[in-house]
Amino acid sequence: MDYKRHLVTAALPYANGPVHIGHLAGCYLPADIYVRYLRAQKKDVKFVCGSDEHGVPITIRAMKEGITPQQVVDKYHELIKESFAQMGISFDIYSRTSHKIHHETSQAFFTKLYNAGLFEEKETEQYYDEEKKVFLADRYIVGTCPVCGNENAYGDQCEKCGSTLSPDQLINPHSALSNAPLVKKKTKHWYFPLDKYEPFLKEWIVDGKKDEWKANVYGQCKSWLDNGLQPRAMTRDSNWGVPVPLPDAQGKVLYVWFDAPIGYISATKELTNQWSDYWCQEDTKLVHFIGKDNIVFHCIIFPSMLKAHGGYVLPENVPANEFLNIEGEKVSTSRNWAVWVHEYIKDFPGQQDTLRYVLCANAPETKDNDFTWKDFQDRNNSELVSIFGNFINRAFVLMHKLCNGRMPPLHTEVMDDTDRQLLNAIGNTKALIEGDLESYKFRDALYEVIDLSRKGNKYMQDKQPWIVAKTLEAQPENQKLIDNCLHLCLQLTANLAIFAAPFLPDTAKKMCYMMKVVDKMLDWENAGRADLLKVNYPLRAPELLFQKIEDEQVAAQVEKLRNNLKQNTVAMTENITKAEEKPAQNPVKAEIVYDDFAKMDLRAGTILSAEKVEKADKLLKLEIDLGFEQRTVVSGIAQFFKPEEIVGKQVTVVANLAPRKMRGIESKGMILMAENADGKLVFVSPVTETTPGSEVR
Ligand code: 2FM
Ligand code: ZN
Repeated sequence: MDYKRHLVTAALPYANGPVHIGHLAGCYLPADIYVRYLRAQKKDVKFVCGSDEHGVPITIRAMKEGITPQQVVDKYHELIKESFAQMGISFDIYSRTSHKIHHETSQAFFTKLYNAGLFEEKETEQYYDEEKKVFLADRYIVGTCPVCGNENAYGDQCEKCGSTLSPDQLINPHSALSNAPLVKKKTKHWYFPLDKYEPFLKEWIVDGKKDEWKANVYGQCKSWLDNGLQPRAMTRDSNWGVPVPLPDAQGKVLYVWFDAPIGYISATKELTNQWSDYWCQEDTKLVHFIGKDNIVFHCIIFPSMLKAHGGYVLPENVPANEFLNIEGEKVSTSRNWAVWVHEYIKDFPGQQDTLRYVLCANAPETKDNDFTWKDFQDRNNSELVSIFGNFINRAFVLMHKLCNGRMPPLHTEVMDDTDRQLLNAIGNTKALIEGDLESYKFRDALYEVIDLSRKGNKYMQDKQPWIVAKTLEAQPENQKLIDNCLHLCLQLTANLAIFAAPFLPDTAKKMCYMMKVVDKMLDWENAGRADLLKVNYPLRAPELLFQKIEDEQVAAQVEKLRNNLKQNTVAMTENITKAEEKPAQNPVKAEIVYDDFAKMDLRAGTILSAEKVEKADKLLKLEIDLGFEQRTVVSGIAQFFKPEEIVGKQVTVVANLAPRKMRGIESKGMILMAENADGKLVFVSPVTETTPGSEVR
C-alpha cells in the first residue's frame, strides 16, 4: 500500500525512574533511526511519545520515597525528557499523561465504549493491604512459591524457578509494601470482553499475514490467541490516575494499560490540529516501537480497544525488541544494575553518537543481548575511530595536503576498475540500507554504513595517493590519479554523512560543517550520487569525529556499576536532580596502613598556566609550580573550569605519581579534586596559601 503519512510511536516510559540504556536499545533508538530515515525521505511523519504517569509503578515509587505521586512524575518526567533530548531522540512531541487533554481523551474513549454497552460490570474479591489502605496488584503480593519454596515469590511469578503464579497459590501471602497479611475485599470493576475480539484478532493477525512481523512479536500474539483470551478489568481502585467517568465510580481510575496507549492519541492531538488524519485515515502507516514486555498490550489489547471504538487505524507493524543485559546480568532497577542515560551523558559529554552506535550495532533485535563496557570501547575504538572516523580524516587531510584544500576534479579518462567499483559500492549501499531499514533491521543497516567506510579505507590503501605524490616531479600527469582518488573519497564521505545521519545525527552534522554544505544535502534522494561536492569548492579542516575511549574510562564505568549495586535505588535516584539532597556516597574503601599513605608525596602547587587540550573536551593542560620544579599535569577538569579562571590557584598535587601520556602530552602528577553533590569538581587546596612545594601530610 502506498502510505500518505506515517505515525510512529515509542512506548511511553513510566515516570517512576530515569531511563537506562536498555530502554534506548529496546525502542527509542530504533524508532528515532526509523523516523530520521523517513524524514530524510521527506515523508510526512509524526513521532510521538511522552511519560506514562499513572499506574502502580508510580504510586509504589511515591510510597517508597515518602513523596506524592505528583512529585514523583514531575521529577522523572523532566529527567527522562532531557535524557532523550541529549541522546538526539527527535520526538515531534514528548508529552505526559497527566495533561488535561489526555484525561479528556481517555475518558471520552472509555465513555464511548461504555455507552455502546461493551463493558461488563463485575464485583470480585481482591487482595487488600489494610495498613496502607490499598488494593494490591499481583506484583506487590509476596509469599512462598509452592513449586520451589522461594520465600520471595511474587503474586504473578516466581523469579527463582520461573513458574507463573497467581496470588492464591502463594503460601503465606503478604503485602510487599507493608508486610501486613492480606485480606480480601469486594470491589466492582468494568471488564473489557477481550474474548469477543478473538475472531477479529485472528483475522487481522493470523489471516492478515502479520507473520511478516518480527518472529518474537508474531509468536507471542499467536500464543495468546491459541491460549484463548479472557475479559480484562479496565479500571482499578486507586486515587492516582484518570478518574473513571461514571457517577458510581468514586476512588476508581482507568487501568493504566487502558489509558497509556490512548496517550499516543492525546499526544498527537496536542501536537497538531490534523491529528485525526494520522489516526483515522486508512492511508496512515502506524508503527509502534516497544520492548518485548509490551507486546500483548500493543498487539492484542490496544487494537481490540481501537476496533471496539471504531474509526481508528490499526498498527501496520509493532517491531518490538528483546532485552539488553548489562555485563552478563539482567537489568534490575531495584538493584541499580543499569547504565543510566543521564549519567552516561555526564560521563561522556558530546559522545551521544558513540552510545547510539554501540546500542544499534548490538541491538537486541532477535534475542536478548549483552552490553559490556569493553565492547563499547572496542566498537568505538576499532569501528568508529579506526574505520569510519579514520577514513574521513584521511580523505580531508590528504585533500588539504595534495589538492590545495579544494575539492579536486574527476578525470574520467584515467578512471580504472577500482574507481568504478567504489562508485558501485556507494549505489549498492543505498539499496541495502533502504531494504534493511524498511524491514526494521537496524543492525544490518548500520553494518552497511561501516562496511562502506571500510571499503573507502581499502580503496585509499590501494590507491596510495601519498606514494603517487612522490612521482609528481617526474610524472606531473599523475596529479590526475591523486585528484580522482580524493574526489571519490570525498564524494564517498558526503554519502557516508547521508547514510550515517539517521544513526549518528551529531556526527553527520559535523561532517556537513567540514564539507561546508547545508543539512539539506542529507536528504535521502541525494544518497548514491557521486556529484554531491562541487569541484574546486574549498573544504574545511577535518574535525575529530570520535574520541578514543581509554581503558581507565572503561574500568571506572565497571567499578561504578558494581558500586551502584551496593547502594539502594532510592538513595541513587534522589541523587539525580536535587543538589540539595544528600547524595548517595560511595562506600569507604578497604583499610590501609600508614605506610601505604606515606608512599604518596603530596605537595602544594600553584597553577601557572592552563590551556585546553586540542580535540579533548574534558582535558586541561596545566603548568604547575612546585617550588623545586615546574610540572606539566593534564587534568580532566575542562568541563568545570575555564582555563583563565584557575591561573594562580593553589592545588594539591600527587607529585610522585608515575608519568602518563594523555593525548600525546606527558602528564607528571595529578591534582586532587573533590566531587560535590551535583557532580561538580572543586579543588582540594591548602586553606591558607603556602609556599609552592610544601609537603601535605
Ligand atoms: O512498560 C512501560 O514502561 C509502559 N509505561 C509502556 C506504556 S506504552 C503505551 F502504551 F503507552
Ligand atoms: Zn519458585
